[in-house]
Amino acid sequence: LNDIEKGFEALRNGEFILVYDNDDREGEVDMIIASEFVTPESVATMRDNAGGLICNCIHHDFCESLGIPFMTDIMNAATDKYPVLATLAPNDIPYDERSSFSFWVNHRDSFTGITDHDRAMTIRELALLCKDGKFDEFGEKFRSPGHVCLLRGAEDSVKNRQGHTEIGLAMCEMAGVTPVCVVCEMMDSETNKATSFEKAKKYAEENNLVILKGDDIINKYLEEF
Ligand code: 5RP
Ligand code: CA
Ligand code: CA
Ligand code: ZN
Repeated sequence: LNDIEKGFEALRNGEFILVYDNDDREGEVDMIIASEFVTPESVATMRDNAGGLICNCIHHDFCESLGIPFMTDIMNAATDKYPVLATLAPNDIPYDERSSFSFWVNHRDSFTGITDHDRAMTIRELALLCKDGKFDEFGEKFRSPGHVCLLRGAEDSVKNRQGHTEIGLAMCEMAGVTPVCVVCEMMDSETNKATSFEKAKKYAEENNLVILKGDDIINKYLEEF
């Protein structure tokens, strides 16, 4: 198996893959896992060994079915009543044109929502709801605001935007798992910066994980779809 195929295997087995986006973009390595397999232990691993924001990426088509907008669309719609929102427009992101952020949710069976147990439930149950096509149960099962940030995958995936959001979802699609995945940036407590590719590679080797580059995933996806 080549590394990308090992990545598909890992996702199907509920294991992490590491993905570096690009020198021309964030230059960050995210830990990525298919949300349908997330456990409290997976959340603990991301807290301890990645330390970035734990986000649930939702495929564009699922977002359409669930009615999940971009946060910027919510802000734009609310500017008449809250003019400050217009002044906060994210029109100066230094590495991309658009953010994939949507709103935050907790599963309604959560207590505070932040524990490994609660976040894993929120992440996994939303993936399973999508997998089962039970879109009309979204509001019955989840509340907002919450402690898991939802990221809305761009329409046409990596053809349209090349963030970890789309790259992770493209990996899920190619691996044949439900296209809902968690991303969490690897942060370096020694430098207080993003973990370098080299350091992340060392972590991957020590923990028997594959580390992939965004461009390789994007090219593979463009070949297939
Ligand atoms: C959420 C982020 C991360 O960068 C994450 O990788 C998703 O964003 P993007 O698709 O822009 O890479 O900001 O914590
Ligand atoms: Ca980011
Ligand atoms: Ca709290
Ligand atoms: Zn990213």
